[in-house]
Amino acid sequence: MNGDIEKIMISEEQIAVKVKELGGILAEEYRDKNPLLICVLKGAIIFMADLIRQMDIRCEMDFMAVSSYGSGTESSGMVRILKDLDTSVQDRHVIVVEDIMDSGLTLSRLVELLRHREAASVKVVTLLNKPDRRKVEITPDYSGYDIPDEFVVGYGLDYAENYRNLPYIGVLKPEVYAK
Ligand code: PRP
Ligand code: MN
Ligand code: MG
Repeated sequence: MNGDIEKIMISEEQIAVKVKELGGILAEEYRDKNPLLICVLKGAIIFMADLIRQMDIRCEMDFMAVSSYGSGTESSGMVRILKDLDTSVQDRHVIVVEDIMDSGLTLSRLVELLRHREAASVKVVTLLNKPDRRKVEITPDYSGYDIPDEFVVGYGLDYAENYRNLPYIGVLKPEVYAK
C-alpha cells in the first residue's frame, strides 16, 4: 500500500464488482440508444475506462473539463468550460460520468448546460457520492457508493494532482496535507 494512505476505504476488488454492476445496468437501459458517455476530466478517467468496458452495447465517448468555481467564489452559477466536447449532444442520450459527487455544483451546472444544448436525455453516473456535502439539490441517477465525509484519493481522485493512479479508494494520512 502507498505510504501516504491511512486506510483503504474501497478495495480494487470491490470497485471492480461495483463497476461491472453499474455497466450492466447502463447497458440494459441504453441498448439501441447509442448513448454518448461524457467523462468529466480528470477525475473520472479511470472510472470511465473501466465502465465502458462493462457495457456490451453500441456507445460513444467524449471528454469535458470544467470548473464550477469561476475565479474563486463558490457558486458562480456557471460552469467554466476548460475543454469542451467534440460531439454535438443535440438529440443524443447523454450519460455524464463522474468519479465523485460532493457539493454537486459541478454536476448540476453541467447537466443544466447539456439540457440547454438540447440533449434528448441527460443522466449522471458517479462512482462515489458524498450526500452530506451537498450544496445544491441534485441526486445521481446511478451511484456506486455513498461514502462519509472523509477526504479520499485514488482511482482517479487526486490530492494536489497526485494519487490518481492508486487502484483503490483510500483515505490520506492527515500529515500528508499538513505539509
Ligand atoms: C472533483 C471531482 C468532481 C468534483 C466534485 O474534480 O472529480 O469532478 O470535484 O465536486 P463538487 O460536487 O463539489 O462539484 P476537481 O474539480 O477536483 O477536478 P479533477 O477531476 O481534475 O480532479
Ligand atoms: Mn473532477
Ligand atoms: Mg481534483
